[in-house]
Amino acid sequence: MIVTTKELFQQAYGKYAIGAYNINNLEQIVGLFRGNLGKTASNEEASDAATSAPFIIQISRGARTYTDKAFLEGMIRTAEQVFPDSIFAVHLDHGTEEVCYDCIDSGFYSSVMIDASHEPFDKNVEIVKKVVDRAHAKGIVVEAELGQLGGVEEDVVGSVKLTDPAQAAEFIERTGCDSLAVAIGTSHGAFKFSGTQGLHFDVLEKIQAAVNAVKPNFPLVMHGSSSVPKEWVERINNAGGALKNASGVDENQYFPAAKLGVTKINIDTDGRLVWCAIHREFFRDKPAEFDLRAPGKIFMPAYAEYIIHKNQKLGSAGHLEEVRKALKK
Ligand code: G3H
Ligand code: 13P
Ligand code: ZN
Repeated sequence: MIVTTKELFQQAYGKYAIGAYNINNLEQIVGLFRGNLGKTASNEEASDAATSAPFIIQISRGARTYTDKAFLEGMIRTAEQVFPDSIFAVHLDHGTEEVCYDCIDSGFYSSVMIDASHEPFDKNVEIVKKVVDRAHAKGIVVEAELGQLGGVEEDVVGSVKLTDPAQAAEFIERTGCDSLAVAIGTSHGAFKFSGTQGLHFDVLEKIQAAVNAVKPNFPLVMHGSSSVPKEWVERINNAGGALKNASGVDENQYFPAAKLGVTKINIDTDGRLVWCAIHREFFRDKPAEFDLRAPGKIFMPAYAEYIIHKNQKLGSAGHLEEVRKALKK
């Protein structure tokens, strides 16, 4: 069942974070649903430990243009039928105004992100407000961003600018957005920290206090949250990869962040590392193999296991039935 991120956030706020996973192809979609749903009649490959979790599927502009965007919609609608117990939101990641309108009009997306964080404050407010008005008229919810992460956000190269708590409060009031992505020390990609840096919990606490003073229980979003696990990086490098000095967010910081109002945690890079390690090892170990399904059969359960592990760290594991009950009320 496709729901809005807002409906998921209302259940999760202050208790756990919902995993927002970027997808690009069929194998990722199958692994994602298996990891979240567990064993069902049509899912006999799943691990017994699968997590029964609500989740968010994120589609970036790059994912929409990798093939025709209609393929993603078709595959996700099929997954919804194959896994009828699933509860998830379909969310546009880092949208421009134009792509947001396309998604709002599509009837498929339940949530969009308008990313105008590179614009000056007033311009950011103006753009977000326009998207909010169009989205809310159709029952679609909007994530906006204030502050700038390090690294690259799609085609915008960012220099770090942590979110200002007072500005955050003004921003959510003036725009009417439903959730806010904040910059608290993370960055996109596999090279987040050069030393022992981490999340700025002091800034997060101040943002939570400031936004809650104007809108209680207002959901915050953390982008750039991959943990870039050493074991996956090592497997990639041992199979011919060249990821030197890769590093990510400590997974044990997800739950403390959730307690401070971070209700959506964005993870893309880690899934790519799983894909890369499995495929590099496969072709290293089986140089005579050329059936594309053979590595896919290893990748899908590995991806499901990775989702299970993440949901446990996010605290979303085991909350599916509780969310279903709340949605029925
Ligand atoms: O934040 C960006 C996401 O990781 C999406 O990446 O634009 O390469 O699909 P992408
Ligand atoms: P990572 O690169 O840390 O996976 O972040 C993904 C993200 O923020 C997608 O919007
Ligand atoms: Zn992001």
